[in-house]
Amino acid sequence: MPFLEAVEYLAGKAGMSMPKPSAAQIERDQKQFGLTEIMEAACQFYQDHLFGLGGAAARAYLMSRGISGHVAKAFRLGYAPHGSALTAHMQSKGYNLDDCVALGLVLRNQQRATVHDYFYDRIMFPILDRRKRVIGFSGRIMGKGEPKYLNSPETELFHKGETLYALPNAIDTMRKKNEAILVEGQMDVIALHCAGFTDAVAPMGTALTEHQLDMLWRYCDEPVICFDGDMAGRRASVRAVNRVLPNLTPGKSLRFVWLPEGFDADDMIRKKSPDAFQKVLSAAKPMTFAVWNMLLDGRSTDTPERMAKLKKDALETVAQIKDETVRSFYTKDIKNKIWKLQNDQGKSKKTLPFQSSAPILPPTPGITQAKMMLAYLVNYPHISQKILEDISVLNFAQKALDDALQELTTIILDKPEIMQDEMKKCISEDTKILLSAELEMLQKSDRSEKQVMNELLEWIQSARIKAIERDIAALTKEYFEHPLPQTWTKITELKKEIENLSESE
Ligand code: UTP
Ligand code: MN
Repeated sequence: MPFLEAVEYLAGKAGMSMPKPSAAQIERDQKQFGLTEIMEAACQFYQDHLFGLGGAAARAYLMSRGISGHVAKAFRLGYAPHGSALTAHMQSKGYNLDDCVALGLVLRNQQRATVHDYFYDRIMFPILDRRKRVIGFSGRIMGKGEPKYLNSPETELFHKGETLYALPNAIDTMRKKNEAILVEGQMDVIALHCAGFTDAVAPMGTALTEHQLDMLWRYCDEPVICFDGDMAGRRASVRAVNRVLPNLTPGKSLRFVWLPEGFDADDMIRKKSPDAFQKVLSAAKPMTFAVWNMLLDGRSTDTPERMAKLKKDALETVAQIKDETVRSFYTKDIKNKIWKLQNDQGKSKKTLPFQSSAPILPPTPGITQAKMMLAYLVNYPHISQKILEDISVLNFAQKALDDALQELTTIILDKPEIMQDEMKKCISEDTKILLSAELEMLQKSDRSEKQVMNELLEWIQSARIKAIERDIAALTKEYFEHPLPQTWTKITELKKEIENLSESE
C-alpha cells in the first residue's frame, strides 16, 4: 500500500478522519510529482549512458577508483555525455523544457535563445531524498578541471543544506546500530558502504547545517563526524562544534574522528584498509573533547590572567547551550577540566601554599557557607579577586548557587576594579533574592578585610579537606576490590595532605 493510503487506512481503523489537503497543497504535490518524474527520467538517461557505448571512459574511471559495475548500479551512478544529449532526449520524450530548466538540468541562453545541457562529460551521482526520489545531481569531472564536482543548483526539489548524500541507503543501518558516519563527499560514502559501513552519509560540499543535524538525530543519538586531519579539518570541526553546541539536548550529541593527515575516508579504506578505518572510528571522541580542544587550541594558560581568560571563554562557550540540563552538566564538566588543568600547572599554590596534591573533583562547600561566600563576592569584590581562581572552581550543591557563582566571577573578571556599589547594581534579580539575607547581614556587620579573607581561605580549605576525604573513601573502596600498591600510596599521600591542611589552620 502506498504511504498515504496506509495512513488513511489506519486513520479509518482508529476512527479518525484524514485532514484533507488544501487545493494549493494538491497542486503543489502534483507539480512536485511531475518534477520528480523528470528527474527520474534524467537519472535513467545518465545510467543508460554509463553502460552504453559512449560510457567506456567513464566506466574505466570508476574502475580506477575501485567502483564496480554492481556498486555503480546500487548508487545509480551515471554518465552525462558530451554535447546536449540530455536536452535532446528530454525534448524527444515530450517533457516540458521549462521544467527541465527550472530543475537545473538544462541551461537556457536568453539572448541567443538556445538551450544546452547543464552537465556534460561528467560522472553523475544522483541525489535521492528519504523516499528514494531523485532530487538533484552532483557530477564529477574525470580529469583535471574546475569545478571538480558540479552540483545541481537550488531548485524546488533540491535544497543543498537539507540534503545528505546516500541517506536512503543508510537509514536502516543508522536505526539498527544507532550510529551514523558523516564524511566529506560522495566518493567517501561509496567506499565506506562497499566496506560494510552502510551508515555513512555526506553533506553536499557544505559545512553541516542545523537541518542536516536534525535529520541525523532522527535516526541515531550520536552521529560520528569524520574530519580530515589537516588544518581545514580542524577549522571544520570548530565550525561544527559552534553550530551544534547550542542545539544539544539530553542524549543527543555528536562524536568526532580526525583522520590521519592526507587521507580522506575513501583513501583510508582503499590505501589502508577497512580495519584501519574501524580503528579510527572506535576512537571517536565525545563532543566535550572537541569543545575543550577548541578552547585550548593555540592558547597558553601559564599566567592567572590567561587562565582567567580561558575560564571566561569556556563559560561563555557552554552558555550557548539552550537546554538547561545539558548546559549545567557542561558547565560542571568544563569547571572540572579547568580545575584539573590548574592543578596540573601547580597554579593554586600561589594563593593556598599548603596544598599540593589535588582532589579529583572540585570541593563542594555547604549551602550556608556557599551563600556567604557569594555574598562576600558581592560585598568585597577586590578581596575576592585575589582568590577568584580558587573560588571559581568550587562546585556548589545547588544549581542556583552555581549560576550565581558563575555570574559573579564573570563580572569580577570583566571589571577587576569594580567596587561594592557598582557590583550591587550589576547583579541579577535572581542573585539578589538568593543572597538577600546574607547581604543584609553583611550590611550590619563590620568585618575587617583581613577577617573576610581569612574566612574565605578557611572555607575553601575545609571544602578541600572534605573533597580529599571523599576521594580517600572512594580510593579505599577501590583498594578493597583491587588491592594495587599505587592505590595505597595515593591514599597515604592524601591522608598526609589532610594532616598538612589541618596543621596550617
Ligand atoms: P574534495 O575536494 O575533498 O573531494 O571535496 P573528494 O570527496 O575527496 O573527491 P575525490 O575523491 O577527489 O573524487 C569534498 C566534497 O566537497 C564537495 C563534494 O561533495 C566533494 O565530495 N565538492 C568538492 C563540491 O561540491 N564541489 C567541488 O568543486 C569540490
Ligand atoms: Mn577523495
